[in-house]
Amino acid sequence: MNSSWTVIDNIATLVTNDPTVGDGTLGVLRDAAVVIGDGVVQWVGPCSAIPEGAAGDRHDAGGRAVLPGFVDSHSHMVFGGDRAEEFAARMTGSEYKAGGIRTTIAATRAASDAELSANMGRLVAEAAASGTTTVECKSGYGQTVVDERRSLDVAAGHTAETTLLAAHVTPPEYAGRVDDYVAMVVDEMIPACADGARWIDVFCEKGAFDVDQSRAVLQAGMAAGLTPRVHGNQLTYGAGVQLAVELGAASVDHVTYTTDADIEALAAGDTVATVLPGADFCTRNQYPNARGMIDAGVTVALAADCNPGTCYTTSIPFCIALAVRDMRMSPDEAVWAATAGGAASLRRTDIGALRVGMRADLTMLNAPSYLHLAYRPGVQLVGAVYKDGVLL
Ligand code: NIG
Ligand code: FE
Repeated sequence: MNSSWTVIDNIATLVTNDPTVGDGTLGVLRDAAVVIGDGVVQWVGPCSAIPEGAAGDRHDAGGRAVLPGFVDSHSHMVFGGDRAEEFAARMTGSEYKAGGIRTTIAATRAASDAELSANMGRLVAEAAASGTTTVECKSGYGQTVVDERRSLDVAAGHTAETTLLAAHVTPPEYAGRVDDYVAMVVDEMIPACADGARWIDVFCEKGAFDVDQSRAVLQAGMAAGLTPRVHGNQLTYGAGVQLAVELGAASVDHVTYTTDADIEALAAGDTVATVLPGADFCTRNQYPNARGMIDAGVTVALAADCNPGTCYTTSIPFCIALAVRDMRMSPDEAVWAATAGGAASLRRTDIGALRVGMRADLTMLNAPSYLHLAYRPGVQLVGAVYKDGVLL
């Protein structure tokens, strides 16, 4: 033990996501403790077995629950403006159309880097207050070489998980010339932006980019060293899921409209299916068949999709409540999907679980059990958050 470490003890319910140390898939330990130091988990176990000589700070959890910080693997936090009126119109009868993205493109292009960064910083802090310790963030509201590049640079100021969403929607100056836009993305945008991103993403959907255009963008990104992820099957059935599996994408996100063949392809492949029920809630869409995917053996992640159009929330607890109530995921499945599932979708082995050596990213609830996340919807239950071992 080291005197600069922190002992968090008196934890009523500790979710480790390590089934070798505790009960069930979540590896739940009761009356537990965690020792964190040097930014990582140093020890996990029952309070009765805290190693001799454990010194340093003590944080008495007071019979509360602790779980790994949420890994939100899908967000669009670099944007200008808001679309509250579009939301209000949708709630009174208008349909969601991908074209609303162009409103945000105009506002984003008009915003300064400092304004974009301040807005993202506000959202990252808001997410952290709800227990999120890792966020992925996409560009996609610039759709010019310069505006995509600066979107990525802004995002990189807040997270290492940056995604070039080069083909989100065809911008107004390319109206009616989708193939020309895709050619520009492949020839100019990806070469100019690839070193600012880890991932390449595309919106493969009717009204956005078809399967061949999407494949061209993703393959160009892969050739530039990026790993693909896909927005697919959000608004209707389509080829997004199959394309993601074909290319070995890390994740296909939304998956609201899936066929049996889509689910079979996901089960046979390595691609994570990321459900975003907040977006379905805020667009009055149907919900993904998460039950069918999990039962078929698909790895399912749960993310918030914070963006100004389809889902302006950073709250993973809200998404957990939706997943449990409306998608028939069990509370355990939903918590796993928002922690270990998110980590799997980002291909990270250092977050999403509380094992020795992993990042000390922890969320403490003002509740005795993680079950309260779904049981007490709409209540701010997050009492404390540690990121890299530091209390935020
Ligand atoms: O994940 N589906 C495409 N992109 C976003 C929505 C973007 C917007 O409407 O501004 C999403 O839902
Ligand atoms: Fe999205």
